[in-house]
Parts: sequence; structure tokens; C-alpha cells
Amino acid sequence: MRAVVYDRYGPPDVLRLEEVERPAPREDELLVKIHATAVTRADCATREANRRSGLLVTLISRSISGIRRPRQRILGSEMAGVVEAIGSAVRNFAVGDHVFGSTGFRFGAYAEFICIRENARIAHKPAGISFEEAAAVCDGGLNALWCLRLADLGKGQRILIYGASGAIGSAGVQLAKYFGADVTAVCSTKNLELMGALGAHRVIDYTQEDFTRNGQTYDVIFDAVGKHSFRRSKGSLRPGGKYLATDGLRNLILARWTSRFGDKRVMFSIPPRYTQQDVVLLKELIEAGDFRAVIDRSYPLQDIVEAARYVETEQKTGNVVLTIGGQET
Ligand SMILES: NC(=O)c1ccc[n+]([C@@H]2O[C@H](COP(=O)([O-])OP(=O)(O)OC[C@H]3O[C@@H](n4cnc5c(N)ncnc54)[C@H](OP(=O)(O)O)[C@@H]3O)[C@@H](O)[C@H]2O)c1
Repeated sequence: MRAVVYDRYGPPDVLRLEEVERPAPREDELLVKIHATAVTRADCATREANRRSGLLVTLISRSISGIRRPRQRILGSEMAGVVEAIGSAVRNFAVGDHVFGSTGFRFGAYAEFICIRENARIAHKPAGISFEEAAAVCDGGLNALWCLRLADLGKGQRILIYGASGAIGSAGVQLAKYFGADVTAVCSTKNLELMGALGAHRVIDYTQEDFTRNGQTYDVIFDAVGKHSFRRSKGSLRPGGKYLATDGLRNLILARWTSRFGDKRVMFSIPPRYTQQDVVLLKELIEAGDFRAVIDRSYPLQDIVEAARYVETEQKTGNVVLTIGGQET
């Protein structure tokens, strides 16, 4: 089968197409023919061993994914496709089923086929959406769900989402609204309209207004893009308020510190723990019209280098998808 592989950490050009052996499912696994995957910030960070985050994070990253070279040669954690074969113990999926889901840090989805356990983070693809759309659901969807649950976001609470137009942010706006919160989205001018379409109650253009200076306060501030800070946001949090982080070693330390001192907390926990039920919830929300994945660009698998370069600009709106083979829904 064709797969995108890499044998050393580095820039997007370390990625290349190669013929590799097609995997065979174990008894509790499905073999899925992948029709679409997504290029995520996590893929890019892993590929370059988190070089941009400093030496300590690079060392931690390499200790997980391979000290000298990557142990898993195939990146990609998002997938949507068709079940091609099943192991003898598989009960809930059948050959021909349309599925979608996430392999998380096991990766392996930049490929024509993947084996995945039937109780992993997969579900039947929602009716009426394409493989491309389905492949773009879980990166932002699962991460945002994990973060909002950490904050125990409830009905009527006020949340501000900074970086609301990214993969996690665009999912966060929709999920926060689903949880009954009052949602203020912060993004640049070009994404203001999108925020309204996703259901934000208010939108702040950060090129025109600094939310930390407008006198408004929130129960939760969700930095969905890792570009703000607890220190700068603290004055905009209500007493007992929570700052939700998605990135940064400093936030791990602050999370411990603020759990003991002060009445405003940083919430950050990695690795995120997602379950199959979370994927099923996203499927149900899509079918109910309460959630959709935002897709910025779509590339064919062979254009992976170009796609990864675009994701690395940190300017994608929502998600970047890679298509592999046929595109029927
Ligand atoms: N904790 C985890 O397990 C985990 C997993 C995956 C990703 N992450 C991290 O989560 C973060 C978000 O990932 P993502 O894929 O959702 O991001 P993304 O899609 O790459 O975010 C891109 C968006 O961020 C906005 N942006 C860029 N620079 C900004 C700035 N300086 N200030 C405000 N907004 C800015 C841009 O929109 P505007 O033009 O509208 O500003 C752009 O559309 C990353 O830091 C990533 O490393 C964490």
C-alpha cells in the first residue's frame, strides 16, 4: 500500500511517499481502507520532535516517539474510511461499514490502510457527511471536549475562547454552546463571520480590541491556540475562574501551583484521554446539526509536504485534510 513515511525528525520535506506492507488485522481489529485523513499540529510537532518548544520538550518528545529516529514511521492520527476486513472477535463493525475516528499518538493514518481495535476511538461515520468532513472531526473535536470537561463547563457559564478559528477553537465554540455556555469567540478579522455561523454569542476581533482591557469577565478562558497566557488573562477571570490551556510546559507547572494557591486555576492535563464514547458523542452532535468540522484546505496524499508546510504557518482555519483514493459518501 502507499503511505507517507519519515525516517528522521525535521521539516516537512522529511516526509515521502513509499510502498509499505499492508497491515493485517488481529482478532479484535478492523482493517480500514482510509479515504481521508488530516494534517494536524500534533503531527507536525511530532515530526520535528517539538523543536519549536525548546530543548526540554524536544527531549521528552523524543523519549516518547524514538530517541534517535521515529519508531512509528507513519504519522497521521485522523481517519475516515471503509472497513475492508475484520478480525474474528470483532462484533460491532462489519466489512463495508463507513467509519471515522482517531488513533491519537499511535498515528499510522497517512496511509491507504490501517488496523485499529474495535474498541478504539472510532465510530460509524455520521450519515450525510463526506469522508473528508469526517476525517476533520476528531482532532479539534476530541481535544476541545477534553479541555471543556476539565473546566466542568456548565449551563449559563461565560466562556471566552481565544484562537477560536483553529481546529480546537472552532470545535470549542460549538461544544461550549452545546454545553449551554455563553460563548465569546476571539479571532482575527477574516474569521469573524465564521464565528457567528458556528454559534458564538459574541465575537471579538483581536486586531481591534484587547479582551483583557474591555472590563468583561468570564468563568472560563480557553486558550485554544496556545498564544495567550494565564498571567495576561487573570484579570478577565471571575473569582474561581479557570484558564484552560492547550499547550506549554509552563502551564503544567501553573496547573499544579494554582490547584494549591489562589482562587483562579490553570487547567491543563496531558496526554488527553479520549474514549470511543467521545467519538460517538461527536457523531451524534453532527447528526443532530449541533457540530461540524471546519475545513480550510484539502490536498491529495502525495501533496503532504505542501499540506504540512501550510499547517506549520499556524494560520489554518479549522482543519487541513488529505484525501486518499475515492470520495463517495
Ligand atoms: N493538548 C493537546 O493534546 C494538543 C493536541 C493538539 C494540538 N494542541 C495544541 O493546540 C493548539 C491549537 O491547535 P490547533 O490545531 O487548533 O491550531 P490551529 O488550527 O493551527 O490554529 C490556527 C488559528 O489560530 C489563530 N492564530 C494564529 N496565531 C494566533 C495568535 N498569535 N493569536 C491568536 N490567534 C492566532 C489563527 O486564526 P486567526 O487568524 O483568526 O487569529 C489560525 O486560524 C496548538 O498549540 C497545538 O500545539 C494540543
